Amino acid sequence: MTDDPDTPAAPEGGGPGADDLVAEIGRLEDDARVRVAAAGSADELRAVESDVLGKRSGFNGLRKRLGGLDAESRRTVGKVLHAATEAVGAAVIERRAVLEAAQRTEQLIDERLDLTEVLPGRPAGHLHLVTQAIQELEDVFVGMGFTVAEGPEVETDWNNFGALNFPPGHPARDMYDTLYVDFGGPGSTVLRTHTSPVQVRVMTGGPPPYYSVMPGRVFRSDTADATHMPVFHQIEGLVVDRDITFADLAGTIDAFTKAYFGGDFTSRLRPSYFPFTEPSAEFDIQRPDGTWLELGGCGMVHPDVLRNCGIDPDEWQGFAFGFGIDRLAAARHGVDDLRDLFTNDIRFLTQF
Ligand code: DAH
Repeated sequence: MTDDPDTPAAPEGGGPGADDLVAEIGRLEDDARVRVAAAGSADELRAVESDVLGKRSGFNGLRKRLGGLDAESRRTVGKVLHAATEAVGAAVIERRAVLEAAQRTEQLIDERLDLTEVLPGRPAGHLHLVTQAIQELEDVFVGMGFTVAEGPEVETDWNNFGALNFPPGHPARDMYDTLYVDFGGPGSTVLRTHTSPVQVRVMTGGPPPYYSVMPGRVFRSDTADATHMPVFHQIEGLVVDRDITFADLAGTIDAFTKAYFGGDFTSRLRPSYFPFTEPSAEFDIQRPDGTWLELGGCGMVHPDVLRNCGIDPDEWQGFAFGFGIDRLAAARHGVDDLRDLFTNDIRFLTQF
């Protein structure tokens, strides 16, 4: 065997030479890089890192074997080993950065709170057809200079009848028309049969002039059918001032008709009778197609009614009107049975 200085001496004990170790380092590095790249989470990466770079790693095993090499080979292999572990360490750091960025993105998506998002599934209700009609009527009258007044649904017999000139034997006071309440003396308290008693409350509540509308619920001892309900709604109007004439009444009715129904509607008054107005009239409105709709009653406030409320009829005059709201709302929306308005069937009500 020649002693050739160019051929590295085989290590003692017949172990692998420097070239074999370098090749093994290369395989370990390749394997480590593959495992680092395959780590799918920070935890997994930590386990891989300890496997490929830690105390029991292949690299560490090799490091222990460096001692068996000659100085030259030890330096060469040592450099390669150092470079390989540095490179794998750098790959771990890089992979960790990628995984952390991905995790952050995922977290941001998970915790996203979009304040502009419109969430469906919380349907808001809306006002009942009759309430809508009351509010529209109030708007129109307020636009004409009226204020809105209210009174109680349970009234005294005096306010509902007496002050309004209904004589004691008047048929309206009959048990069959009026719902009496078991309160106070017999027949002294009623569920109001119309909104007219609110006129009395307005007139006794302060000095004239008055320009008021009074919407509200009223009660009659009626059996429900397509055009009648025992509980329904009216709106009352009252104007008391100096020098108020029947022409003011007719003009107000017509101005209201045009404001509420439209400019192509007109109105007319027909002679009628009410105990609390003199003269009295019924008023109808004419649709653009020429047909008439009977709306309500009206008239000049009877002097006795003014007197009953402590107002001097020689100084003050006025007119009043009143009409039902339910039939009006029903007619406007093509509802042909009033009972449908009050059975609270949501499929019906949501149409309006
Ligand atoms: N209160 C009457 C009713 O329920 C309607 C009415 C007629 C009201 C004439 C008025 C009026 O103010 O002047 O039938």
